[in-house]
Amino acid sequence: MWLQVSLLCLSCLSLPSLSQAQDQAVLHRSNDYGGRCHYTFTVASPEESSCSGSSMKPEMDGVLSRLTLLEALVSQLIAGVDGTAGSAGTGVRANGEEGFSEDYSQVTRDRKQLQQDKERLNRQVQELQRRLAELSQEAESLRQKPCQQTHTPGGSQRENRPASDPAYDFGKGAYQEMKAEVKEVAASRLIPEGNHNLPGCEELQSVGDPVLHRKADSITGKYGVWLQDPEPQGPLYTNQTVWRIDTVGKDVRQLFAYEDMDQLSQGFPMKVLVLPEPMESTGATMYRGSLYYQRKRSRTLIRYDLTSESLASRLELPHAGFHGQHPYSWGGYTDIDLAADEQGLWAIYSTSKAKGAIVISQLDPESLEVKRSWETNIRKNTVANAFMMCGRLYTVASYTASNTTINYMFDTATGMGRAVAVPFKNKYRYNSMVDYNHAQKKLYAWDNFHMVTYDIRLGRASQGSI
Ligand SMILES: *[C@@H]1O[C@H](CO)[C@@H](O)[C@H](O)[C@H]1NC(C)=O
Ligand SMILES: *[C@@H]1O[C@H](CO)[C@@H](O)[C@H](O)[C@H]1NC(C)=O
Repeated sequence: MWLQVSLLCLSCLSLPSLSQAQDQAVLHRSNDYGGRCHYTFTVASPEESSCSGSSMKPEMDGVLSRLTLLEALVSQLIAGVDGTAGSAGTGVRANGEEGFSEDYSQVTRDRKQLQQDKERLNRQVQELQRRLAELSQEAESLRQKPCQQTHTPGGSQRENRPASDPAYDFGKGAYQEMKAEVKEVAASRLIPEGNHNLPGCEELQSVGDPVLHRKADSITGKYGVWLQDPEPQGPLYTNQTVWRIDTVGKDVRQLFAYEDMDQLSQGFPMKVLVLPEPMESTGATMYRGSLYYQRKRSRTLIRYDLTSESLASRLELPHAGFHGQHPYSWGGYTDIDLAADEQGLWAIYSTSKAKGAIVISQLDPESLEVKRSWETNIRKNTVANAFMMCGRLYTVASYTASNTTINYMFDTATGMGRAVAVPFKNKYRYNSMVDYNHAQKKLYAWDNFHMVTYDIRLGRASQGSI
């Protein structure tokens, strides 16, 4: 392009000399606008002995403006190259060029701004997509709720059934089985009782009203786990420390530590620990300076040491159903529920061999190995939750009914289970976690964003509860 342009210009610059010597050949030398020296050899043609300056001027202006347009186009085509592109490779300086440069850099700035906006919007879209996915998951688990209730005619009324009809949930066959159990338990009372019937470890007699400690303030707190370590180790965390995990979401890893109940109530964590593996559901428990939990989408149990903030042991819980195979009635992948009590660490779960009946295993708190297992005769998906207390399993009948009962107890000392009827309140109508803390002698629960405790009363089993 440069060559064509300068030749055109040359013919014009040499006009004065041409008119002086139109009938002879002339060698002309001149500088162009770019300061270069040009030699021109001119011979007048018969048809045109001269070229008129006035007639050439508009043509030249036309070329200049076309050139400017071309430059603009070229510059726009060279993406990412700013300012300098406009003057590259041309020997012409037009009056309009400075204005053009300004326009061009304005366009460049606008373009950069648009790119930044686009990136920002992309990020927002990604964030919204992530939240949408979480909410869909949440909606999915909420949708399961009415379905599970419709198979029981009468809905939540079943929760108010008297204790004399304990086998309501278990079906005809199971009811026969339960009656047989009751007889056997009565017989076993004649046998000297194990040391877990010592004072402070008798059977559960009553549960008080829920006491509210904190309401979670975001959707991720709809359900979760909150605990205090009944047997804390070392100076870093004490029996005052409160631990909390919001378990809504795809990648549950954050463990919040609060100095005490008061700090939990005010919502001021002192520390956030990040778990090495994501957690599933609300079955985690705290015991002797470790958090025990089920790894997401697996039957792998994890012991996370709170002091060293590292994974201390991991082991599969043999044959345990997971990720929706044998959950509690509210779903939420509550397949494996860990618990700690006066007698140690427990896993509450089911297997295909047990056909969905609750299996209890006592675990070695160090290695997570199963020390001993018991198979109960209550189906895991018929109950809302379960906890261990003095080596006994207790199940909660409903997670939504405000007046429900603890409807079943299995004693690992005798290997027997039976129906009980201890009133229990789900004040906020969506109770996703119930755990017993034997040091505080309280039940801890997470009921629809609300972190609550229940006082309990223990005592000798009365025949009336059978
Ligand atoms: C729950 O029980 C209490 C008494 O314990 C009673 O006042 C209340 O009306 C009951 N609520 C429902 C929904 O049945
Ligand atoms: C908590 O620890 C303190 C000091 O170790 C002890 O005095 C207190 O009884 C403990 N409280 C509970 C509820 O275990």
